[in-house]
Amino acid sequence: METSRRDLMGLAIGGLGVIGALGVLYPIVKTLAPSAASLAGALVEVDVNSIPEGQVRVVSWKGKPVFVVKLPQGLQWGGKAKEEKNSKLLQGQNAFALVAVCTHLGCVPLWKPQGEAEFNYPVFHCPCHGGFYSPWGDVVAGPPPRALHIPPQAIRDGKLLIGEPGFIKELT
Ligand code: FES
Repeated sequence: METSRRDLMGLAIGGLGVIGALGVLYPIVKTLAPSAASLAGALVEVDVNSIPEGQVRVVSWKGKPVFVVKLPQGLQWGGKAKEEKNSKLLQGQNAFALVAVCTHLGCVPLWKPQGEAEFNYPVFHCPCHGGFYSPWGDVVAGPPPRALHIPPQAIRDGKLLIGEPGFIKELT
């Protein structure tokens, strides 16, 4: 009788110890484990304050090159896009991401902040077949059938979070 009561007390104390240990370990493991999004490379964080105005940084997102564009303050862009879809979607944002894959045949366009050819204002130039895009990725000239793709993105604490729905929804 004495032995079984002691066994029962021992089991109860042991069980409480296990529960306590799980309570301590769970938040630690949860904090250390990368999210499913970051494991898949689906969330990329870029410090936009480290990009000089008027410059573009190329990062990788889901295995694709992505431009992170930092527009100059008060940019008066002198060009005319065939369609102004992206510039409307990105209105009011001075830093944003565009998938750096030409919508014609998939080359990576080049950022020309001083302009190129007959365009004397900032453009993306795809030299493969002479495609030109505005800083927002809208088609200005050449064979690209549509604007550069805009990935989902959000801005938080000066960081652009590519892959997180925010100020723009992913378009198909
Ligand atoms: S791949 Fe860009 S213009 Fe053809």
